Amino acid sequence: MAVPLPVRPASLLVWLLLLLLLLPLLASACDRCVRRSKAAFHASSLTLAGGSCGYGAEAASLGAGAGFLAAASPALYRAGVGCGACFQVRCKDRELCAAAGARVVVTDRATTNRTDLVLGNPALAAMARPGMARRLAQLRTVDIEYKRVPCEYKHRNLTVRVEERSRAPGELAIRFLYQGGQTDIVAVDVAQVGSSNWRFMTRDHGPAWSTTQAPPGPLQLRLVVTGGYDGKWVWADREVLPRRWRAGELYDTGVQITDIAQEGCFPCDTHEWE
Ligand SMILES: *[C@@H]1O[C@H](CO)[C@@H](O)[C@H](O)[C@H]1NC(C)=O
Ligand SMILES: *[C@@H]1O[C@H](CO)[C@@H](O)[C@H](O)[C@H]1NC(C)=O
Repeated sequence: MAVPLPVRPASLLVWLLLLLLLLPLLASACDRCVRRSKAAFHASSLTLAGGSCGYGAEAASLGAGAGFLAAASPALYRAGVGCGACFQVRCKDRELCAAAGARVVVTDRATTNRTDLVLGNPALAAMARPGMARRLAQLRTVDIEYKRVPCEYKHRNLTVRVEERSRAPGELAIRFLYQGGQTDIVAVDVAQVGSSNWRFMTRDHGPAWSTTQAPPGPLQLRLVVTGGYDGKWVWADREVLPRRWRAGELYDTGVQITDIAQEGCFPCDTHEWE
């Protein structure tokens, strides 16, 4: 005897459609899960440093803290929101590749969808077993597995660089450096120290935000960061930019972001690769 289904076929179809729509969302929310893909190698890491995230000369110091510089496919780059994200990557050829892999930080957008990451020679050398870097480099692409990991800048606070095109007091353009943890900055407000009259800034690209209506300094900042399904305010409610802030200078926000993404997805491999 057939057991009656609790749902009618029509609603079953609706459920299936919903599931199909939701699956990619769930998958993309699971940053920490291991993903399998390919990586390409790029001989010059200089082009990565000058990459489209605009870190410029500071890219090298990002690399020194968080990992080797990498370019990410459009899906990982997320129109610039993925700038500064850190990944642990290892190649799957057990003869050529070490099990621990290498940590990389996204500083550039790759122009191809064929591989998720484009790595420079230093990352390649770090992924290789001793003595195998040359053979690894001869492969133009390798099978990899990778996962998003928190960026660790032990000796750096979140820092802003005032971009050259800024004109005090009103026109303020900043770029965030040393964004630790495993979060995305999704909103930035600026106010004069001691004031609660916050003005929002607009994302120009990636880690760069600007406003044409900045109040006169000294200035404090607050940001909204999200990680997985969780979000929170981060307050740099002390003087971040002095009264006479200057274009081209770096300013310490006095805060460190160390949050790990909260994810409501299926259990996945989050242990350290060694
Ligand atoms: C990569 O894929 C996205 C979405 O599938 C597409 O919009 C984009 O044009 C592709 N980019 C390249 C360089 O192939
Ligand atoms: C980070 O900011 C705190 C103040 O919140 C400060 O005491 C500390 O020295 C700063 N760390 C670095 C590395 O600049």
